Amino acid sequence: MLKMRHLIEPSDLTGEELDGLFALAERIEKEPRYLRESCRGKLLATLFFEPSTRTRLSFEAAMLRLGGSCLGFADPSASSTVKGESLADTVRTASCYADVIVIRNPKEGAALLASRYSSVPVINAGDGGHHHPTQTLADLLTIHRLRGSIDNFTIGFCGDLKFGRTVHSLAKTLTRYSGVRQVFISPPELRVPSYITTEFDANGVGYTETDSMESVIGRLDVLYMTRVQKERFFNEEDYIRLKDAYILDARKMELAHQDLLVLHPLPRVTEIATEVDSDPRAVYFKQAKFGMFIRMALLASILDAVI
Ligand code: NCD
Repeated sequence: MLKMRHLIEPSDLTGEELDGLFALAERIEKEPRYLRESCRGKLLATLFFEPSTRTRLSFEAAMLRLGGSCLGFADPSASSTVKGESLADTVRTASCYADVIVIRNPKEGAALLASRYSSVPVINAGDGGHHHPTQTLADLLTIHRLRGSIDNFTIGFCGDLKFGRTVHSLAKTLTRYSGVRQVFISPPELRVPSYITTEFDANGVGYTETDSMESVIGRLDVLYMTRVQKERFFNEEDYIRLKDAYILDARKMELAHQDLLVLHPLPRVTEIATEVDSDPRAVYFKQAKFGMFIRMALLASILDAVI
């Protein structure tokens, strides 16, 4: 079903393939027995050089639910990386043992490099502040399932738009749908990188930038909150100054539409007050669950296990 071999950036998937994955994920969710044993005998290697909760656990849950098995590491200090082994050699080795590799690394371009040394498909689970394509799949599936379509809506991205890889992957992918208005809400220091806005400008993709959440929240259909990416800051002082730039609370939610969807790739730190969790418009834990269904669809497709 999938023409792609590696998934490094969302643009590796065609529009048709995205639609196929969403349909498959929905079927998997609604018919829990469907594809249950389809990956029996297949192995997924998870190579995580950066912390993760949802991405790694949902990939492992996805593989186990498909009847396959998992191996790998969640912390590079338990791997030969600490002995000085290169990423290329680690990936070459893992591809001798596994049928598919999921990799997260703090360096931009690491997944692309890994794909050049792997004899099996490589899925990028985050390369530094660059891309996170499977989070985009989870985000799009959430919007598709909860709004009914991915066209004609206004989305506000709020928080750390400079370092947030999930923002970069989703914002770029949304330009492939029609009538999606993008509003970037951030302090001036954390604006979306110019390589993205330059591309938007060159292709006539409209967007607006603001530093005020209150001034736009009433116009949004989707609010995509993000964490300030502490680990990508060059100094602690800047992080401390910017970390609480936006806090979504019940008072701000009163300014929003009744059918707003609040998404967040998680982990949440302080940017969404826990009082918002009980608001039916807060869908970030549903989004985490959709993330598992879409990863099941992706693994089954990559491993050619869809019947
Ligand atoms: C995100 C990531 O790793 O980029 N988390 C995730 O995969 N759901 C977001 C983040 O860490 O802030």
